Amino acid sequence: MDRPARAAAGLILAGRDKERIETLAARAGGFIDAASGGVVPPIQPSTTFVRDEAYEPLVEANVYGRDDSDIVRIGETLIASMERADAALLFPSGMAATAAVMRTVPNGGAIVAQSGIYWGTTKWLREFCQRRAIDLTEVDAGDAQTFAATIEKARPQVALVETPSNPWLKIVDIEAAAKACGAAGSLLVVDSTAATPVLSRPLELGADIVMHSATKSLNGHSDVLAGVLATKDTGSPAWQAIATDRHDAGAILGAFEAWLLVRGIRTLALRVERASDNAMAVALHLASHPRIEQVLYPGLPDHEGHDLAARQMNSRFGSLLSFLVKGGRDEALGVCGRFSGIHRATSLGGVESLAEHRHTVEGDVTGVPENLVRLSVGIEHVDDLIEDLDRALGG
Ligand SMILES: Cc1ncc(COP(=O)(O)O)c(C=O)c1O
Repeated sequence: MDRPARAAAGLILAGRDKERIETLAARAGGFIDAASGGVVPPIQPSTTFVRDEAYEPLVEANVYGRDDSDIVRIGETLIASMERADAALLFPSGMAATAAVMRTVPNGGAIVAQSGIYWGTTKWLREFCQRRAIDLTEVDAGDAQTFAATIEKARPQVALVETPSNPWLKIVDIEAAAKACGAAGSLLVVDSTAATPVLSRPLELGADIVMHSATKSLNGHSDVLAGVLATKDTGSPAWQAIATDRHDAGAILGAFEAWLLVRGIRTLALRVERASDNAMAVALHLASHPRIEQVLYPGLPDHEGHDLAARQMNSRFGSLLSFLVKGGRDEALGVCGRFSGIHRATSLGGVESLAEHRHTVEGDVTGVPENLVRLSVGIEHVDDLIEDLDRALGG
């Protein structure tokens, strides 16, 4: 749905694209509910919408709830503004958003994906590509030259990178990746879940589509599953196919989830700032801890992607980090077992800190070390986090 049509629905005050991310988020994109004057959007759970005597929809935008939802449009408009995109599409999970892009690749086509990214994405991609006879190449996109050479050779329809990557915290040079993809006629998709639009805006660096698991920092409260895609090029065949498929095949977000997501986004900037500052302090503390072999965090000056992250990530480095415990599996699981405040749980980007032993989840197939613990740092008092870590590490 285009902007004038959205405005006609009486729900969005358009023209906010020049506002800063913090302002857009706090004000839900300048939202005012035309019907009540409320500064908080209503939830409309109706799955169907009436027509008038001439059989025209009473509200032009709304016919049937499978793809017509004001609160979903409010969320999409807000995220599009924050990403400096022309449009966004919400999905019921991050994986549903990724799958929607990949389904634009024809049988027998080609996909290039960064290696060592979120295992759920890699696992799904491998099976999907096998089923569809799609040539999948996995490459270390943290190395810009290797990535460019791979794109030139494979000439994929779609290339997917994830920066910072989960759980390796590799940083991809989005501008360089976009140049390589542009020259090969490939669509560059950036999973920017760990960066958020507060820290990085891939479309401004040349990416074709930015993707988020909105389950993570965008929502931020570990109570919504959602995914989103955003683009500047709504006329591209790929975007048209994605939008049509979402409408026809029905991978849509429910009204209540969309409402919670919009509510969560209103504090996005504050949460990202606090969690990133906590993560930086935790990373520095762990880096000098005698029980730690290595800390993977792009904020640390000795991280291989630090300079690039400092340029590409708006002066903070996100809430995600991994650390390798001296010893092996037992030592890493022992540390996890001794956390008293940090939850042992999967996922990331919530207000509460979460620790995960990734090898338990990924097994031997991905090469994730048995002594790696991934930490999603929350917005608690940083001293409580450091005390919990010290206790767990026995230091
Ligand atoms: C970087 C990244 N991308 C995508 C996903 C998938 O998102 P969802 O769980 O919302 O389907 C995850 C989930 O952990 C993730 O960490």
